[in-house]
Amino acid sequence: MDVLQMSRVRCVGVGHKGFGRGAESPMDEIGVRCQHLGTLFVKLLGNAFKRMGQFDLHAWGFRSHDISPRVMVCYSICLFCLSNQVPVSRRCPFNPATVSPRLRAMIDPASPYRFCVAPMMDWTDRHDRYFLRRISRSARLYTQMITTGAILHGDRRRLLDFDASEHPLAVQVGGSDPTALADCARIAEDWEYDEINLNVGCPSDRVQSGTFGACLMRDPDRVADCIDAMRRAVSVPVTVKCRIGVDDQHPHEALPGFIDTVAAAGCAVFIIHARKAWLSGLSPAENRSVPPLDYPLVHAMKQRRPDLVIVLNGGLATLGDAAGHLGLVDGVMMGRAAYRTPWVLADVDRLLFHPSAPVPNRWEVADAMSRYAERRMAEGTPLKAIARHLTGLFQGLPGARSWRRTLSEEVRGPDATADLIRRAALMVSRRAEPVS
Ligand SMILES: Cc1cc2nc3c(=O)[nH]c(=O)nc-3n(C[C@H](O)[C@H](O)[C@H](O)COP(=O)(O)O)c2cc1C
Repeated sequence: MDVLQMSRVRCVGVGHKGFGRGAESPMDEIGVRCQHLGTLFVKLLGNAFKRMGQFDLHAWGFRSHDISPRVMVCYSICLFCLSNQVPVSRRCPFNPATVSPRLRAMIDPASPYRFCVAPMMDWTDRHDRYFLRRISRSARLYTQMITTGAILHGDRRRLLDFDASEHPLAVQVGGSDPTALADCARIAEDWEYDEINLNVGCPSDRVQSGTFGACLMRDPDRVADCIDAMRRAVSVPVTVKCRIGVDDQHPHEALPGFIDTVAAAGCAVFIIHARKAWLSGLSPAENRSVPPLDYPLVHAMKQRRPDLVIVLNGGLATLGDAAGHLGLVDGVMMGRAAYRTPWVLADVDRLLFHPSAPVPNRWEVADAMSRYAERRMAEGTPLKAIARHLTGLFQGLPGARSWRRTLSEEVRGPDATADLIRRAALMVSRRAEPVS
């Protein structure tokens, strides 16, 4: 049962006297708050909000039968009052002052970590990030992991260069030597990254043999030394992306201790992939799906350490999934779904950051990528290095298959030009785009 279904069930029989109290989720509170709204009024208002196209929960990935009009209307009003600072009477259930901290946190656009796209090796390279940035202006983007050795001794321009429009952008580094990490942090800050993130979650053999990534979960003191060294080197935030534990560790004991030790060294932001890594016997891909997810443990970390920014990662497929956690944690990070179905980001800006943010258009995104590819190809980048990231753009629309085929097959032809992207998009009918 998802969070909205839960809220609908709990709404039944709950009087509106309990505003903000007894509500077990922000959606629950929304349901409680709109108990007293008349059905006709709700329908009229719901339609008005829908026409405005501003606060449509369908766009969050909720299925229509999950959404009671009351929930939608109440959510819309709360969000509207909060984000536009509408003066309402104290007794009004949508008064921002009476909204519980959890609902406020769900709606408050202040945290830059509210919605992040995960670092993904080979996937979130600069071309992919440029593409995702055409869809969401506000999502926080992360590079794939780059090892300290590569930054210090490799081709820095190839590894670190990015387009200015990619901000807010974090670089993720992999390593366990404080001095090398501090040097890398300095270089990354000079490169104008907004954040340096240390990988404490990667389970691959290569990473383990270098004694970094997930195996560092066993050595919080070492991670603290790394964070301390990096923090002394730069003024941008130094953050950690970790697991809830590894192998035979008990996450409920290991994770709080890890967080406390690393936070004491000055790390204020923890991105937590809500599952263990099993360091032997599972491939990296299996380690992203076999160990069970433990969301309540990540929520508990926020309750335990409200002073820290806690970002939840793992298994989020839709904005609806993500929204259910906001209010319990400061932000969410989406990985595979953002890559495979990138249009899931299309509503991030207006629903999670700025209600008046423009709604992106898939064909305009394709056009922008065609122009981008032309510029990059002039510098020697092969078209397929860019086109491979775009195949999910029209996912779910009639014509998506020919778009995918064109991008994966025709781009290999010797005469393929950047205009192929624009032409392939024209083959997908614009009438297919659902109206929100
Ligand atoms: C292809 C791929 C590459 C990944 N590379 C990295 C990486 O370089 N650094 C990292 O911290 N996590 C990496 N991850 C893990 C993701 O950041 C994320 O934690 C994981 O996929 C769970 O989130 P999701 O369920 O939303 O995909 C990778 C995941 C995938 C699918």
